[in-house]
Amino acid sequence: MKKVTVATDKPFAKEAVDKIRDIIADADFELALLEKYTEHQQLVEAAQNTDALIIRSDKVDAQVLRAGNRLKIVVRAGAGYDNVDLSAATETGVIVMNTPGQNSNAVAELAFGMMLFMNRNRLNSGTGAELRCKKLGIHAFGNVGKFVARIALGFGMDVYAFDAFVPKEVIEKEGVKALDSVEELYSMCQYISLHIPANTETKASINYNLLNMMPHGATLVNTARKEVIHEDDLLKIMEERPDFRYLSDIEPSKKAEFSEKFANRVFFTPKKMGAETGEANINAGVAAARQIVNFFENGDETFRVN
Ligand code: 3PG
Repeated sequence: MKKVTVATDKPFAKEAVDKIRDIIADADFELALLEKYTEHQQLVEAAQNTDALIIRSDKVDAQVLRAGNRLKIVVRAGAGYDNVDLSAATETGVIVMNTPGQNSNAVAELAFGMMLFMNRNRLNSGTGAELRCKKLGIHAFGNVGKFVARIALGFGMDVYAFDAFVPKEVIEKEGVKALDSVEELYSMCQYISLHIPANTETKASINYNLLNMMPHGATLVNTARKEVIHEDDLLKIMEERPDFRYLSDIEPSKKAEFSEKFANRVFFTPKKMGAETGEANINAGVAAARQIVNFFENGDETFRVN
């Protein structure tokens, strides 16, 4: 009997786990749960005796993959798979998949939650600012970027996007102006919403030169990954420009310094919570379970990333 282990440091909503359990039971597979674990070693041990892993931002490194003596597939229930060592997975013959699009709306809504919260003085009294007619630049037009665009258009924002990998027609079909370069995007837009993945090309790529191109009242919204920001450069910009704000779904590595120096101009969620809705948990968890069953029963490798 195939065994599927859900290993989530940040657990899915109960309803999502129940739905995963049903899908696994219908396939006559066995389900194991490892939630809210505190040591990486627990994940290593969970990988030892299972055919499949469902994870979120859990760190599946070479140690986990090598421990997986019968492990065939890891599905990251979500979009970004920078937490999985893809070359170690390929080396050990483990297939890695993600579930693109399943939690994107939740992440997009949080980007607006943070913008509104900060534009209204953290919901305290005082004069705020509106989003309507402001320029929003979407950096990378994948699933989250697309949802951000739709919400922004509803708010009456002037929406621009740059994505080196998405044809301009795809962007323009959404009613968004497609730009030719990242520099153009940052120069034009007061609000930038980041949706690039974290990889060797993008890490620390949001740097001084780019950030300093942003117009007055610059607001950088990061629901992507903290690693894409060059934190020292961002600190420097914020020192130099009292108009610059940084809102991020996950604390930066230098959180203490940002908070101490720029308390009124930063907002950070303590733990990544973009995908923390019941709907996103169900969508991503169910998709992951179905992909695993489909892989074992039909050899389906759609959404494979290695
Ligand atoms: C993703 O890449 O799907 C999001 O960042 C959500 O991550 P999470 O499942 O750890 O909340």
